[in-house]
Amino acid sequence: MSFVVDQKETIEKICARKNALGDDLLILTHHYQRKEIVDLGDFRGDSFGLSQKAAAHRTARFIIFCGVHFMAESAEILSRPQQTVQIPAVEAGCWMADMADPIVVANAWEELTSIAGAGSVVPIVYMNSDADLKAFCGKHGGTVCTSSNASTAFGWGFEQREKVFFFPDQHLGRNTANHMGIPPEEMIVWDPEKPLGGNTPEGIKGARVILWDGYCLVHTRFRTEHIRSMRHRFPEAKIVVHPECTEEVVDLADAVGSTSFIVKYVEDAPSDRPIIVGTEINLINRLALEHPDKTVLALHHSLCPNMFKISLENLLWSLDNIGKVNVITVPEAVKTDARLALDRMLALAP
Ligand code: 13P
Ligand code: SF4
Repeated sequence: MSFVVDQKETIEKICARKNALGDDLLILTHHYQRKEIVDLGDFRGDSFGLSQKAAAHRTARFIIFCGVHFMAESAEILSRPQQTVQIPAVEAGCWMADMADPIVVANAWEELTSIAGAGSVVPIVYMNSDADLKAFCGKHGGTVCTSSNASTAFGWGFEQREKVFFFPDQHLGRNTANHMGIPPEEMIVWDPEKPLGGNTPEGIKGARVILWDGYCLVHTRFRTEHIRSMRHRFPEAKIVVHPECTEEVVDLADAVGSTSFIVKYVEDAPSDRPIIVGTEINLINRLALEHPDKTVLALHHSLCPNMFKISLENLLWSLDNIGKVNVITVPEAVKTDARLALDRMLALAP
Protein backbone atom coordinates (compact mmCIF):
# COMPACT_ATOMS: atom_id res chain seq x y z
CA MET A 1 0.00 0.00 0.00
CA SER A 2 2.70 2.48 1.01
CA PHE A 3 4.59 1.66 -2.22
CA VAL A 4 1.50 2.66 -4.24
CA VAL A 5 1.15 5.91 -2.25
CA ASP A 6 4.88 6.67 -2.70
CA GLN A 7 4.62 5.97 -6.40
CA LYS A 8 1.60 8.22 -6.76
CA GLU A 9 3.41 11.02 -4.94
CA THR A 10 6.51 10.63 -7.12
CA ILE A 11 4.39 10.72 -10.28
CA GLU A 12 2.64 13.87 -9.05
CA LYS A 13 5.99 15.54 -8.38
CA ILE A 14 7.26 14.56 -11.85
CA CYS A 15 4.12 15.99 -13.46
CA ALA A 16 4.54 19.23 -11.48
CA ARG A 17 8.19 19.59 -12.66
CA LYS A 18 7.08 18.84 -16.22
CA ASN A 19 4.40 21.52 -16.09
CA ALA A 20 6.84 24.05 -14.66
CA LEU A 21 9.40 23.39 -17.40
CA GLY A 22 6.80 23.34 -20.21
CA ASP A 23 8.30 23.48 -23.70
CA ASP A 24 11.83 23.66 -22.27
CA LEU A 25 11.61 19.95 -21.53
CA LEU A 26 11.41 16.87 -23.73
CA ILE A 27 11.21 13.39 -22.19
CA LEU A 28 12.01 10.58 -24.61
CA THR A 29 11.21 7.00 -23.58
CA HIS A 30 12.25 3.76 -25.22
CA HIS A 31 9.68 1.02 -25.76
CA TYR A 32 11.49 -1.23 -23.23
CA GLN A 33 10.86 1.16 -20.36
CA ARG A 34 8.33 0.17 -17.74
CA LYS A 35 4.81 1.46 -18.17
CA GLU A 36 4.92 4.20 -15.53
CA ILE A 37 7.96 5.76 -17.24
CA VAL A 38 6.52 5.53 -20.76
CA ASP A 39 3.31 7.16 -19.49
CA LEU A 40 5.30 10.21 -18.37
CA GLY A 41 7.23 10.66 -21.63
CA ASP A 42 6.50 13.08 -24.47
CA PHE A 43 7.44 10.48 -27.08
CA ARG A 44 8.02 6.78 -26.96
CA GLY A 45 9.75 4.91 -29.71
CA ASP A 46 12.52 2.60 -30.80
CA SER A 47 16.11 3.77 -31.04
CA PHE A 48 15.63 4.97 -34.63
CA GLY A 49 12.44 6.92 -33.90
CA LEU A 50 13.90 8.51 -30.79
CA SER A 51 17.06 9.62 -32.59
CA GLN A 52 14.82 11.21 -35.25
CA LYS A 53 12.99 13.07 -32.46
CA ALA A 54 16.26 14.23 -30.89
CA ALA A 55 17.51 15.47 -34.26
CA ALA A 56 14.29 17.31 -35.11
CA HIS A 57 13.36 18.93 -31.79
CA ARG A 58 14.52 22.54 -31.54
CA THR A 59 12.60 24.14 -28.70
CA ALA A 60 13.43 21.98 -25.68
CA ARG A 61 16.52 23.11 -23.80
CA PHE A 62 16.53 19.95 -21.72
CA ILE A 63 16.14 16.43 -23.08
CA ILE A 64 15.78 13.58 -20.58
CA PHE A 65 16.38 10.24 -22.22
CA CYS A 66 14.75 7.25 -20.54
CA GLY A 67 16.63 4.43 -22.21
CA VAL A 68 20.18 3.12 -22.20
CA HIS A 69 23.41 5.08 -22.45
CA PHE A 70 24.18 4.63 -26.17
CA MET A 71 20.72 5.97 -27.03
CA ALA A 72 21.18 9.08 -24.87
CA GLU A 73 24.64 9.55 -26.36
CA SER A 74 23.19 9.42 -29.89
CA ALA A 75 20.56 11.98 -28.88
CA GLU A 76 23.34 14.24 -27.56
CA ILE A 77 25.27 13.92 -30.85
CA LEU A 78 22.15 14.77 -32.87
CA SER A 79 20.85 17.56 -30.64
CA ARG A 80 21.74 21.25 -30.88
CA PRO A 81 24.59 22.89 -28.90
CA GLN A 82 22.18 24.78 -26.63
CA GLN A 83 20.37 21.56 -25.66
CA THR A 84 21.49 19.26 -22.85
CA VAL A 85 20.75 15.55 -22.75
CA GLN A 86 20.46 13.77 -19.40
CA ILE A 87 19.96 10.12 -18.57
CA PRO A 88 18.30 9.34 -15.21
CA ALA A 89 20.71 6.43 -14.53
CA VAL A 90 24.17 6.83 -16.03
CA GLU A 91 24.93 3.19 -15.25
CA ALA A 92 22.21 2.02 -17.67
CA GLY A 93 24.61 0.62 -20.25
CA CYS A 94 24.21 -2.15 -22.81
CA TRP A 95 26.06 -5.46 -22.57
CA MET A 96 26.10 -5.85 -26.32
CA ALA A 97 27.55 -2.37 -26.87
CA ASP A 98 30.30 -3.27 -24.37
CA MET A 99 31.30 -6.25 -26.52
CA ALA A 100 32.88 -3.96 -29.13
CA ASP A 101 35.68 -1.90 -27.65
CA PRO A 102 36.69 0.92 -30.03
CA ILE A 103 40.43 0.09 -29.88
CA VAL A 104 39.82 -3.61 -30.46
CA VAL A 105 37.55 -2.82 -33.44
CA ALA A 106 40.18 -0.45 -34.91
CA ASN A 107 42.80 -3.23 -34.63
CA ALA A 108 40.44 -5.68 -36.32
CA TRP A 109 39.84 -3.15 -39.11
CA GLU A 110 43.61 -2.90 -39.70
CA GLU A 111 43.94 -6.68 -39.92
CA LEU A 112 40.85 -7.07 -42.06
CA THR A 113 41.71 -4.38 -44.57
CA SER A 114 45.34 -5.54 -44.78
CA ILE A 115 43.94 -8.75 -46.34
CA ALA A 116 40.79 -7.50 -48.10
CA GLY A 117 42.08 -4.09 -49.21
CA ALA A 118 40.99 -0.82 -47.58
CA GLY A 119 38.77 0.18 -50.49
CA SER A 120 36.71 -2.99 -50.43
CA VAL A 121 35.13 -2.88 -46.94
CA VAL A 122 32.45 -0.56 -45.59
CA PRO A 123 32.01 -0.45 -41.79
CA ILE A 124 28.44 -0.42 -40.47
CA VAL A 125 27.86 -0.09 -36.74
CA TYR A 126 24.69 -0.99 -34.90
CA MET A 127 23.21 1.90 -32.95
CA ASN A 128 23.94 -0.20 -29.84
CA SER A 129 27.54 0.99 -29.64
CA ASP A 130 29.92 3.56 -28.17
CA ALA A 131 30.09 7.02 -29.82
CA ASP A 132 33.73 6.33 -30.76
CA LEU A 133 32.59 3.49 -33.02
CA LYS A 134 30.02 5.69 -34.72
CA ALA A 135 32.81 8.21 -35.26
CA PHE A 136 35.01 5.42 -36.65
CA CYS A 137 32.31 4.60 -39.21
CA GLY A 138 31.83 8.26 -40.07
CA LYS A 139 35.55 8.61 -40.71
CA HIS A 140 35.80 5.43 -42.81
CA GLY A 141 32.84 6.09 -45.10
CA GLY A 142 30.39 3.93 -43.16
CA THR A 143 27.07 4.40 -41.42
CA VAL A 144 25.03 3.48 -38.35
CA CYS A 145 21.93 1.30 -38.48
CA THR A 146 19.21 0.16 -36.11
CA SER A 147 17.16 -3.00 -36.31
CA SER A 148 14.52 -1.04 -38.25
CA ASN A 149 16.79 -0.08 -41.15
CA ALA A 150 19.53 -2.74 -41.15
CA SER A 151 18.57 -4.13 -44.61
CA THR A 152 18.53 -0.63 -46.10
CA ALA A 153 21.91 0.12 -44.52
CA PHE A 154 23.42 -3.14 -45.81
CA GLY A 155 22.01 -2.41 -49.29
CA TRP A 156 23.56 1.06 -49.12
CA GLY A 157 26.84 -0.50 -47.93
CA PHE A 158 27.01 -2.88 -50.89
CA GLU A 159 26.46 0.06 -53.24
CA GLN A 160 29.60 1.65 -51.74
CA ARG A 161 31.91 -1.36 -51.48
CA GLU A 162 32.12 -5.10 -51.95
CA LYS A 163 32.10 -6.17 -48.28
CA VAL A 164 30.24 -5.07 -45.14
CA PHE A 165 31.96 -5.21 -41.73
CA PHE A 166 29.15 -5.15 -39.16
CA PHE A 167 29.50 -4.79 -35.39
CA PRO A 168 28.66 -5.57 -32.60
CA ASP A 169 25.56 -7.81 -33.10
CA GLN A 170 26.32 -10.92 -35.10
CA HIS A 171 22.67 -12.05 -34.98
CA LEU A 172 21.16 -8.88 -36.41
CA GLY A 173 23.91 -8.96 -39.04
CA ARG A 174 23.30 -12.60 -39.97
CA ASN A 175 19.50 -12.28 -39.99
CA THR A 176 19.79 -9.18 -42.18
CA ALA A 177 22.20 -10.88 -44.60
CA ASN A 178 19.94 -13.97 -44.72
CA HIS A 179 16.98 -11.73 -45.50
CA MET A 180 18.97 -10.22 -48.38
CA GLY A 181 19.75 -13.68 -49.79
CA ILE A 182 23.46 -13.67 -48.98
CA PRO A 183 24.54 -17.32 -48.66
CA PRO A 184 26.09 -18.50 -45.34
CA GLU A 185 29.41 -19.33 -47.03
CA GLU A 186 29.81 -15.62 -47.79
CA MET A 187 29.55 -14.66 -44.09
CA ILE A 188 32.29 -14.96 -41.50
CA VAL A 189 32.36 -14.20 -37.78
CA TRP A 190 35.22 -12.09 -36.43
CA ASP A 191 36.34 -13.28 -32.99
CA PRO A 192 38.50 -10.40 -31.68
CA GLU A 193 40.45 -12.74 -29.41
CA LYS A 194 41.94 -14.69 -32.32
CA PRO A 195 44.43 -13.69 -35.04
CA LEU A 196 42.54 -12.59 -38.17
CA GLY A 197 39.39 -12.95 -36.07
CA GLY A 198 39.77 -16.74 -36.31
CA ASN A 199 39.64 -16.68 -40.12
CA THR A 200 42.00 -17.58 -42.94
CA PRO A 201 43.09 -14.99 -45.53
CA GLU A 202 41.08 -16.95 -48.15
CA GLY A 203 38.00 -16.91 -45.90
CA ILE A 204 38.29 -13.14 -45.54
CA LYS A 205 38.77 -12.61 -49.29
CA GLY A 206 35.70 -14.74 -50.06
CA ALA A 207 33.43 -13.10 -47.48
CA ARG A 208 30.86 -10.43 -48.28
CA VAL A 209 29.72 -9.95 -44.69
CA ILE A 210 32.05 -9.91 -41.68
CA LEU A 211 30.14 -10.19 -38.40
CA TRP A 212 31.53 -9.12 -35.04
CA ASP A 213 31.19 -11.81 -32.40
CA GLY A 214 28.74 -9.86 -30.19
CA TYR A 215 25.20 -10.59 -29.05
CA CYS A 216 22.37 -9.43 -26.81
CA LEU A 217 21.93 -11.53 -23.68
CA VAL A 218 18.27 -10.53 -23.46
CA HIS A 219 17.38 -11.71 -26.98
CA THR A 220 19.62 -14.78 -27.17
CA ARG A 221 17.75 -16.10 -24.13
CA PHE A 222 14.96 -17.13 -26.52
CA ARG A 223 15.50 -20.72 -27.65
CA THR A 224 13.96 -22.98 -30.27
CA GLU A 225 12.50 -25.07 -27.37
CA HIS A 226 10.45 -22.01 -26.35
CA ILE A 227 9.01 -21.75 -29.86
CA ARG A 228 8.25 -25.47 -30.04
CA SER A 229 6.62 -25.49 -26.62
CA MET A 230 4.47 -22.41 -27.37
CA ARG A 231 3.44 -23.81 -30.76
CA HIS A 232 2.37 -26.99 -29.00
CA ARG A 233 0.33 -25.05 -26.43
CA PHE A 234 -1.09 -22.48 -28.87
CA PRO A 235 -1.10 -24.10 -32.34
CA GLU A 236 -3.17 -21.27 -33.84
CA ALA A 237 -0.88 -18.47 -32.54
CA LYS A 238 1.44 -16.23 -34.57
CA ILE A 239 4.98 -15.78 -33.30
CA VAL A 240 6.97 -12.59 -33.90
CA VAL A 241 10.56 -12.07 -32.73
CA HIS A 242 13.25 -9.36 -32.72
CA PRO A 243 16.21 -9.80 -35.14
CA GLU A 244 18.69 -9.85 -32.23
CA CYS A 245 17.41 -13.42 -31.67
CA THR A 246 19.46 -16.27 -33.11
CA GLU A 247 18.95 -17.41 -36.69
CA GLU A 248 17.46 -20.72 -35.43
CA VAL A 249 14.76 -18.88 -33.46
CA VAL A 250 14.06 -16.48 -36.35
CA ASP A 251 13.69 -19.46 -38.74
CA LEU A 252 10.94 -20.96 -36.59
CA ALA A 253 9.02 -17.70 -36.04
CA ASP A 254 6.23 -16.41 -38.30
CA ALA A 255 7.68 -12.91 -38.46
CA VAL A 256 10.83 -11.04 -37.51
CA GLY A 257 11.31 -7.32 -37.14
CA SER A 258 12.46 -4.35 -35.14
CA THR A 259 10.76 -3.05 -32.04
CA SER A 260 8.52 -0.75 -34.11
CA PHE A 261 7.72 -3.63 -36.45
CA ILE A 262 6.65 -5.74 -33.45
CA VAL A 263 4.45 -2.92 -32.09
CA LYS A 264 2.75 -2.59 -35.48
CA TYR A 265 2.48 -6.36 -35.91
CA VAL A 266 0.51 -6.63 -32.66
CA GLU A 267 -1.62 -3.57 -33.56
CA ASP A 268 -2.52 -5.04 -36.94
CA ALA A 269 -3.01 -8.66 -35.81
CA PRO A 270 -6.54 -10.07 -35.73
CA SER A 271 -7.89 -10.64 -32.23
CA ASP A 272 -9.03 -14.21 -32.82
CA ARG A 273 -5.65 -15.85 -32.22
CA PRO A 274 -2.82 -15.33 -29.73
CA ILE A 275 0.26 -13.34 -30.66
CA ILE A 276 3.46 -14.64 -29.06
CA VAL A 277 6.30 -12.13 -28.86
CA GLY A 278 10.03 -12.72 -28.46
CA THR A 279 11.51 -9.48 -27.15
CA GLU A 280 11.97 -7.49 -23.93
CA ILE A 281 9.26 -8.24 -21.36
CA ASN A 282 8.27 -4.66 -20.50
CA LEU A 283 7.27 -4.01 -24.09
CA ILE A 284 5.29 -7.26 -24.23
CA ASN A 285 3.48 -6.48 -20.96
CA ARG A 286 2.54 -3.04 -22.25
CA LEU A 287 1.36 -4.40 -25.59
CA ALA A 288 -0.87 -6.85 -23.70
CA LEU A 289 -2.33 -3.99 -21.62
CA GLU A 290 -2.86 -1.77 -24.66
CA HIS A 291 -4.66 -4.50 -26.59
CA PRO A 292 -7.13 -5.99 -24.09
CA ASP A 293 -9.08 -7.54 -26.99
CA LYS A 294 -6.02 -9.60 -28.00
CA THR A 295 -4.05 -12.35 -26.31
CA VAL A 296 -0.44 -11.14 -26.29
CA LEU A 297 1.98 -13.61 -24.71
CA ALA A 298 5.71 -13.66 -24.04
CA LEU A 299 7.71 -16.35 -25.83
CA HIS A 300 9.73 -16.44 -22.59
CA HIS A 301 10.31 -13.95 -19.76
CA SER A 302 13.38 -11.86 -20.66
CA LEU A 303 14.01 -8.48 -19.04
CA CYS A 304 16.76 -5.98 -19.91
CA PRO A 305 18.17 -5.05 -16.47
CA ASN A 306 19.85 -1.99 -17.97
CA MET A 307 16.61 -0.53 -19.28
CA PHE A 308 15.11 -1.32 -15.87
CA LYS A 309 17.65 0.94 -14.14
CA ILE A 310 15.52 3.95 -15.09
CA SER A 311 13.00 4.48 -12.30
CA LEU A 312 10.47 7.08 -11.20
CA GLU A 313 12.88 8.10 -8.44
CA ASN A 314 15.87 8.78 -10.69
CA LEU A 315 13.63 10.48 -13.27
CA LEU A 316 12.41 12.85 -10.54
CA TRP A 317 16.00 13.38 -9.34
CA SER A 318 17.01 14.33 -12.93
CA LEU A 319 14.14 16.82 -13.08
CA ASP A 320 15.08 18.27 -9.69
CA ASN A 321 18.60 18.79 -11.04
CA ILE A 322 17.68 19.75 -14.56
CA GLY A 323 20.65 20.36 -16.83
CA LYS A 324 23.06 19.48 -14.00
CA VAL A 325 23.24 15.76 -13.24
CA ASN A 326 24.07 12.81 -15.52
CA VAL A 327 24.52 15.18 -18.44
CA ILE A 328 25.80 13.27 -21.48
CA THR A 329 28.90 14.76 -23.06
CA VAL A 330 30.76 13.65 -26.17
CA PRO A 331 34.09 15.24 -27.20
CA GLU A 332 33.66 17.57 -30.21
CA ALA A 333 36.01 15.61 -32.49
CA VAL A 334 34.10 12.38 -31.81
CA LYS A 335 30.80 14.19 -32.22
CA THR A 336 31.65 15.51 -35.69
CA ASP A 337 32.51 12.11 -37.15
CA ALA A 338 29.76 10.28 -35.26
CA ARG A 339 27.21 12.80 -36.50
CA LEU A 340 28.34 12.16 -40.06
CA ALA A 341 27.56 8.45 -39.65
CA LEU A 342 24.25 9.13 -37.84
CA ASP A 343 23.18 11.64 -40.48
CA ARG A 344 23.89 9.03 -43.16
CA MET A 345 21.63 6.66 -41.24
CA LEU A 346 18.82 9.21 -40.89
CA ALA A 347 18.98 9.82 -44.62
CA LEU A 348 18.31 6.12 -45.27
CA ALA A 349 14.64 5.21 -45.19
CA PRO A 350 13.78 2.52 -42.57
P1 13P B 1 15.47 -0.88 -31.21
O1 13P B 1 16.52 -0.38 -32.15
O2 13P B 1 14.48 -1.72 -31.90
O3 13P B 1 14.89 0.23 -30.43
O4 13P B 1 16.18 -1.88 -30.19
C1 13P B 1 17.18 -1.46 -29.37
C2 13P B 1 17.64 -2.54 -28.52
O5 13P B 1 18.43 -2.32 -27.63
C3 13P B 1 17.16 -3.88 -28.77
O6 13P B 1 17.68 -4.76 -27.84
FE1 SF4 C 1 21.43 -3.89 -24.97
FE2 SF4 C 1 20.09 -6.18 -25.23
FE3 SF4 C 1 19.31 -4.40 -23.39
FE4 SF4 C 1 18.96 -3.92 -26.02
S1 SF4 C 1 17.99 -5.51 -24.78
S2 SF4 C 1 19.75 -2.50 -24.50
S3 SF4 C 1 20.83 -4.88 -26.87
S4 SF4 C 1 21.29 -5.52 -23.45
